[in-house]
Amino acid sequence: MKTKKDILEWYLEAGVTETIGLLPLNRFNLPQEQVLLKKEIQTDPPIMTTSAPPPDNLLSDALNRSSKALNEEELKKLLNSFEGCSLKKTAKNTIFGEGVSHPEVLFVGEAPGADEDRTGRPFVGVSGKLLDKMMSAVGLSREKNSYITNIIPWRPPGNRSPSTAEVSLCLPFIQRHIELLAPKILVFVGGVAFNALLSRPETITRARGNWYSYQTTGLAAPIPAIAIFHPAFLLRSPGQKKLAWRDMLTIAEKLNELKK
Ligand code: URA
Repeated sequence: MKTKKDILEWYLEAGVTETIGLLPLNRFNLPQEQVLLKKEIQTDPPIMTTSAPPPDNLLSDALNRSSKALNEEELKKLLNSFEGCSLKKTAKNTIFGEGVSHPEVLFVGEAPGADEDRTGRPFVGVSGKLLDKMMSAVGLSREKNSYITNIIPWRPPGNRSPSTAEVSLCLPFIQRHIELLAPKILVFVGGVAFNALLSRPETITRARGNWYSYQTTGLAAPIPAIAIFHPAFLLRSPGQKKLAWRDMLTIAEKLNELKK
């Protein structure tokens, strides 16, 4: 007979560490749009949840802080003391990023999960291990020549998708971070990073594998950018790994061209 403690431990092992949902949901009587959403998720990885825009004062605080940073250390401090995003209240750590300071390739994911929140490091859980493997297969690593970070530096409770308001509030920080790192190539790991940083609506299934140009006012020149499937999606849909391998080869080829 399973006790309540066994059930709780089972939830914790499965990564369910928060009991906070966006809205209460009667799963026995899902509204039609939720049923449709569930079907979509089976074929395409999740995207941001649409929400009301963030208050102007919080957005200008994020913009002012990020534009003040002249180096990574300053940006880290300014982000650490930013209280405008409510995700910070439920997270244990602010996850800034990890890698070399002048990366050839910069990988930008969505948001930290439970393992990242616990350790304070990006992409260290199962999907992080897969991302490390994908990178190392084409000669890339966070120790040697790359950098890994996220659009959102705080874990959304229960690993839910970030809302559009949360993404808007965190965007000035990641945009400044990209300017300071000035990589040769920018890789969007999953649809959220792609949609947020390029302000484009395509799904990751359409966007992946194509080259885009990423430009902001603080960059000396546009950066070639590409989207890949998120490793968490690849773990659920291993049949898509062949496309991910193709995309990693495309990134390696481009890097070789840029080095010539
Ligand atoms: N998924 C992400 O998008 N980022 C992480 O850091 C971990 C998992």
